[in-house]
Amino acid sequence: MKHEHRKSPFHDHEHAVEFDRRAAKSEIRAELEKKLIDMLALKGEELVLDLATGTGRFARPVAKHIRGGRVIGIDQALAMLRVGHEHEDPVPGYRQVAGEAGALPFKDDTFDRAFVSFSLHHFGRPALVAREILRVLRSGGQFIILDPVLDEPRDSLDQRLEERINQVFRRTHGADFRFHSAEGIHNLLTQAGFRIARTDLPTYSFDQDGMEGIPTGRHWLEVAEELEGESPDLAERLRERYFRWERKGEAVHVEGSFSYALICGEKP
Ligand SMILES: C[S@@+](CC[C@H](N)C(=O)[O-])C[C@H]1O[C@@H](n2cnc3c(N)ncnc32)[C@H](O)[C@@H]1O
Repeated sequence: MKHEHRKSPFHDHEHAVEFDRRAAKSEIRAELEKKLIDMLALKGEELVLDLATGTGRFARPVAKHIRGGRVIGIDQALAMLRVGHEHEDPVPGYRQVAGEAGALPFKDDTFDRAFVSFSLHHFGRPALVAREILRVLRSGGQFIILDPVLDEPRDSLDQRLEERINQVFRRTHGADFRFHSAEGIHNLLTQAGFRIARTDLPTYSFDQDGMEGIPTGRHWLEVAEELEGESPDLAERLRERYFRWERKGEAVHVEGSFSYALICGEKP
């Protein structure tokens, strides 16, 4: 875990500010926020945990749906929490806590809901995290995972592509980074002891210059550029499965789609 701390760029204040700025401008994230709020089905009195809350970009709108209850956001990166704390739109029902996803500083059977957005792929030990969430949820409580997902590999070329994608992202985000598939998330939840209550797998298409507004988009362009030079068969598979790219001077035109999982597990 200490290793993960050193590697993560989220501990850097400038990175945290930049993440928050990009997140605010993403239409895809805005669409996913609505879906997350629908899936949480809040009545208003709930105690909700936002795991790896970052700057609170999802926690804040969720907290606006709460009256008597509260959203507690936990994150290991103080820089992200600080940017969230200094936000121009403070929400009374949102509190932040510094801490580790794999060792939650909460008692058993505490929360009515938990969610994690755009962070599962950063956890080195996701099974441990899923068991921690199960522990802190009340019986009947629900945990929603929202994360970009890769397609389930169909052959060895897909497997090699998945490995290369993760390798490129690890250069920025550290050795723990790993994209999951929707099936992988189902398995993670059921193996921890959850019952799958709901699944939504939206796909968002894009056709634009540059990756602005597309979560994790910047690194996808690094993947494309590297594969183009080193492995034409993997570059072609990337085009088939995810997106095409075409350089136009300084700009790169991208056209394709990425899928996201919103998967809700319920504690029996
Ligand atoms: C991409 S950001 C997402 C933040 C927020 N959920 C959002 O969607 O705006 C990923 C966050 O996960 C946090 N994180 C990664 N690993 C963690 C861990 N093991 N425990 C707590 N937080 C973690 C990072 O510090 C970072 O703030």
